[in-house]
Parts: sequence; C-alpha cells; structure tokens
Amino acid sequence: MSTTMPMRNLAEQLIRSRRSVRAFRPDPVPRDDLEAMLTLARYAPSNANMQPWLVEVVAGATRDRLSEALVSAMTEGRYSIDFHNSDEMYTDSHSQRREAMGERLYEALGIARDDTEGRNAWYLDNLRFFGAPHAVLLFMSPKANERMANDVGMYGQTLMLAMAAHGVSSCPQAILGFFADTVREVLGVPADNRLLFGISFGYADDASPVNNIDMPRVPLSESTRWHDYPVNRRSAS
Ligand SMILES: Cc1cc2nc3c(=O)[nH]c(=O)nc-3n(C[C@H](O)[C@H](O)[C@H](O)COP(=O)(O)O)c2cc1C
Repeated sequence: MSTTMPMRNLAEQLIRSRRSVRAFRPDPVPRDDLEAMLTLARYAPSNANMQPWLVEVVAGATRDRLSEALVSAMTEGRYSIDFHNSDEMYTDSHSQRREAMGERLYEALGIARDDTEGRNAWYLDNLRFFGAPHAVLLFMSPKANERMANDVGMYGQTLMLAMAAHGVSSCPQAILGFFADTVREVLGVPADNRLLFGISFGYADDASPVNNIDMPRVPLSESTRWHDYPVNRRSAS
C-alpha cells in the first residue's frame, strides 16, 4: 500500500476490505502482531473515556476446549443469554434485510432453505469459530447496559479494522453470546460479567465461496435524513 495515498483512499480501502470471513486457515496469528492490533484498538472512542470493554483472547488448547463446550451447550439446548434477544425488536425492513443476508449466505454455502440438518451444522460451525485459530470474547462489567454496549461495539469495529490493516480477517458473532455461562465457565470469567459478542479471527481461506459474498448496503436515503444541509458545496481540499 502506498504511503502517499490520500487518507480518504486509505480509509475507503481499509473500511471496505473488512468483511465477515467465515472460513479460516489454521495458521496462528503471531502474538506480537495481535498485541499491536489490540494496542491500536484501545483508541476506540468511549463514553467519558470509560473504556468498558473486557477482552478475553483465546488460542490453542483453550480455544479448542471452548469450542467443544459451546458445541455441547448448543447440542444440549443449554442457552444462556445476558442481553435479551427477540424477533420483536426487528422492524419490517430489518427482517427483510436479515432474510436477504441469510439467502446470500446459504446460497454461497450451498444449503437449501428446507435443509434443517445443513443449517444446524452451520450453526455448529459458528461455534467452531469457522475454523479460526483464535477468538476474542467481549465482556462488560456486571451492571453495564446498552449504553456501555455502544462503547464495546465501537471497540469491536476498531479492533476489526486494526486486524484488517494487518491482513487478519474476522467475523463478529452474536451467536457466541448465546452461551454466556459456558464461556464464563471455560474461561474462568467472574460470574456477573456480561458477554456481549465474540469475534473469530485469523487468516482467511480465500478459496472458500463463503468468503466471497458482497453483502449489500441500503442507500443513504433509507437511513439518513438531512436537516437544512446545503447541497453541492464540495470543499476545495
Ligand atoms: C454484532 C454482530 C453480530 C454478528 N453475529 C454474527 C453471527 O453470529 N454469525 C455470523 O455468521 N455473522 C454474524 N455477524 C456478521 C454480519 O452478518 C455481517 O456483518 C453483515 O452481514 C454484513 O456483512 P459484512 O460484515 O461482510 O460487511 C454479526 C455482525 C455483528 C456486527
């Protein structure tokens, strides 16, 4: 990457190079490199600079033990969710976008709509971190609510961008938060700390079709309203 590239081009390249990767090579990410990414991610903004994220990083035998425990928890129906989850929170547009996302994903995976077995196997693949050698689990303190979840979300994206800059791919995974007790137990996390989500990461398996999906974005007009903002006044810079 050229160092003379204007910042906006760098930003475009970095932000658009991050995408959710769901098939990884087993090669580990060197600890020094990961420490550099985690060090950079600390510059995420947070309300009153509270930096409320509590980050658990797993590799090697712990990663394998956690994955096995998650698979058992799901197979045995032992769900434990710290933050309420229900389809009621979705608007019609959310539901449509969600469905469109699922269609693209399952098409790339070659899993038919009525293939329950295939879909279940896919859920288990989520819990095997899609083959990634590592994951981070993002916790918050016992009384943290959605206000602090804002900060942790910003941290998560900053970390994934830092990873992308280092050639490391990632997938944020809400599903890892559906088994919070299991994660706490395996990692020895204090019982009251609350799990928001996890991120699997490592080097992408570029040959996998599931890593070559472009998830579309809705046009600005669907999310953004302008209030008294003048049009067509591009600055000179
Ligand atoms: C908080 C959060 C939770 C997510 N949970 C999952 C998940 O459990 N499993 C999964 O495969 N993808 C998950 N994703 C990835 C989204 O599906 C993905 O970000 C979205 O489809 C846009 O695609 P892109 O990340 O490739 O741009 C999650 C993303 C976010 C931000």
